[in-house]
Parts: sequence; C-alpha cells; structure tokens
Amino acid sequence: MPAVTPDSPSGWTPDSWQSRAAVQQPAYPDAAALRQVLDQLAHLPPLVTSWEVNHLREQLAEAQAGRQFVLQGGDCAESFADCESAIIANRLKVLLQMSLVLVHGLRRKVVRIGRFAGQYAKPRSADTETKHGVTLPCYRGDLVNAPEFTVAARTPDPHRLLEGHKRSALTMNFTRGLIDGGFADLHHPEYWNLDWVQHVPHANEYRERVEAIGESLRFFETLAGQTISDFNRVEFFTSHEALLLCAEAAQTRRVPRQPGWYNLSTHFPWIGMRTAAVDGAHVEYCRGIRNPIGVKISPSMSTEWVLQLCRILNPDNEPGRLTLIHRMGAGKVTQHLPGLVDAVRGAGHRVLWMCDPMHGNTQTAGNGLKTRAFSDILSEIEQSFAIHADCGSRLGGVHLELTGEDVTECIGGARDLSEDDLRRAYRSAVDPRLNYEQALELALRIVSIRGAA
Ligand code: PEP
Ligand code: CO
Repeated sequence: MPAVTPDSPSGWTPDSWQSRAAVQQPAYPDAAALRQVLDQLAHLPPLVTSWEVNHLREQLAEAQAGRQFVLQGGDCAESFADCESAIIANRLKVLLQMSLVLVHGLRRKVVRIGRFAGQYAKPRSADTETKHGVTLPCYRGDLVNAPEFTVAARTPDPHRLLEGHKRSALTMNFTRGLIDGGFADLHHPEYWNLDWVQHVPHANEYRERVEAIGESLRFFETLAGQTISDFNRVEFFTSHEALLLCAEAAQTRRVPRQPGWYNLSTHFPWIGMRTAAVDGAHVEYCRGIRNPIGVKISPSMSTEWVLQLCRILNPDNEPGRLTLIHRMGAGKVTQHLPGLVDAVRGAGHRVLWMCDPMHGNTQTAGNGLKTRAFSDILSEIEQSFAIHADCGSRLGGVHLELTGEDVTECIGGARDLSEDDLRRAYRSAVDPRLNYEQALELALRIVSIRGAA
C-alpha cells in the first residue's frame, strides 16, 4: 500500500486546541445556542479562498527573501458600527497610497494586508470589570459582546459571530469591488490630500517624491498606452488576530484538491502577545492550518520561547509560513531585538520579520486618554531597520494601527497634535490609531530613512 502523506501535523485536528489552556475566551452562558451558531458558520460560504491564501504565502516568501515589503494596517478593533462605506473606502485609500509611496521609494513590490474584515475580537488585561461595586464580564470586542456596562450588553452573545461574519463579508465585498472598479485611480497623487505637507520640515522632499510618483505613472501610461489600473490589478489581503478559537475552528476547512486545512475567514491570522504560550490553545490551533501565520513578539518573551514558537509553527522551515512581528517599544528595541534576531538566524529558522511600532509605544496622556507619539512610532521603525541590517537580517514589513479618518488619537506628526488635541476627534474604543495624514507621512518618512541608509 502506498504511504499516505499526512496533510496535517501529527496529533492535530481543527479542535485539538480544546485539550490545551485557552486564555482570553468568553464564557458563553448558552452552550446550545453557541453550537448552533458555530454549525451555521461552518456551512456559510467562506470569506477567502485557499488559492488566495497560498498566493499570500508565496508573496510573504518573496518579502522574506527581500524582494517585497509588507504593509499591514487597519484598526486596533473594528466595530460593527464602522462597517460603512466611507470608513472602508478611506481606510483602503490610505493603505493604497502608502503602498504606492513604499513601492516607489523602496523599489520593491509591496504586499498589502488589511487588518480588517474580521478584526472584531480583542484580548483584554482582565476577565471582568468592576464599577461602583458591580462586576461584569469585560468587553471583548463586538464579535463577543457590547461595550455598555450592563448585564445584557456584557453577556457574550453567540449571534454576534454571525453578525461579525456578515459584516466581514460586506467589508470584503466592498473592498474587492473598489479595487476591481478603478479605485486604483488613487494611484495618482493629484487625488491625494496633501494639505498637511506644508507643516513639516521635510515639505520639499515630500512634494518632490509625490511629484516623482506622478511623473513615473504618467511616463508609464504614455509608454504603455494604458492606464495603470488596466495594467496592474491591485492585490489586497486581509488579516485578524486569531483569538476566538471556537469561531476560527468553525471556519477551518478542507478544500478540493489541496492537502491540509485552511482557515478561510482570513488570509493571514496572527497570534497576539497574550495568547502566544507555546503549550497554549492558540499555538496548537495555528500550527495545523495552511495559512501563513504571524506571531507578536514582545520584550517579555524569552529567546527560547521564540525559538520554540518557530519550531512548533514552522517545523519544515517553509518560506512565507511564519512572520515574527516584534513590538518592543522605541525605548526597548535596541536591548531586545538584536539577540533575538541572532538566535533565530543561528538556529536556522527562516522567518519574515515585521515591526509593529504601535503596541510597545502606548502611553497615557495627562487627560487619561491612551495615546502614542508619532516620534516613538517612527523611531522604533528606524531602529528596527538598522538593527536588522547590523545583524545581517532584513526588516520585511510594518504592522500599523491606522484609519483613513481625520481622528486625533496619536500625538505629533506634521500638525504636531498635542495632548490637548486628543479630545477633538478621539474615536477609538481600544488603541490609538494614526490618522490619514500621519499614516501617509509615516510612509514618506520610511522611504526617506531607507533612502538615507
Ligand atoms: C493588537 O494588535 O491589537 C494587539 C493587542 O497586539 P499585541 O498582541 O501585540 O499586544
Ligand atoms: Co491594538
């Protein structure tokens, strides 16, 4: 009898995570209602396809080899209320514009990954919240419960899983439609909002870069006799934190003529810092799926921990399979990153390295609001590029929390937003995001840093 090639790792099934400690999971009071919803989720059409997932893995392998750069960005937490056309279009717009700046400045293709169409569940620091002597379950994101401090709102409701699936599908559908339908006109800087540029010391450099992008496109279009959108179909992938394991497992499927199991709710699930225990349920679930996987790496994780994650999540050293997303903080990255990069390389693990310059740089402003300084975000990216280069490694991408809206959540940037500005348009229910201008400015700064390197 011919040997049967196992198509999933030994001992793994879509539910094998249930035998491990699963932190950050809600306690659903109605188990029968949950089972019924999960059964529906398992039968609804998926949000992505296995060939898109495989294609992303190949693109990430290219980024690992230094031929592409990854831009991953979106909200900290999507909310059901923000599933509306202008918010989706503006977020896509800023991501596409940033990617064009990066393509032009880094001279590399850019892999675009949205942190949306499913980023509805959040890890929390405590399971419960107490106010005026009343203790309720914490808010875990719109996929689980609602933020209001009442018993009804905070009780985990499985029907939200279906609502989340629906809103993720609406978001994907609109995003795919915008991309297919010439939204790529955005390629042309004439349409960009650049009023903010006059406020920065680098104004001339930025104007020249944006003008150069426009010139390059006009030259190409004249030569080709086609518009850039006719020629180059923009590719876009989605990602979210693989947190709520019952829902992730319900959307984990086999597909015809492909070995293995795919999580078809997103292209690129990642494991958050709080759920990265090597013997925990999240790592167990993720080790068996064919999707490329990201893992957040924080300063509290030991080198041995990271090496074990590499062994468990990518035992065959498959290119593009594993992305390590370090989020150390501007003040800690020099201390923690070099040893880690050396150790991973020394052990022969091939990974893609990305920098999340957001989550290690959160601070509380004088008025109690959570914020992040543009200068810290930029500094962590700048230091990360240099550290990788010094270690003979390569920073292959950035992971950002941003929105296309004019919010005031992060301080600094071209308009030098102060702590007093934060109240004006602070909309995030969770972490502070870069606004449209700060996000575009960050892309332009990344390109100047690299130009200078
Ligand atoms: C996040 O990406 O929103 C998040 C919670 O990150 P981390 O797991 O790195 O803290
Ligand atoms: Co966040």
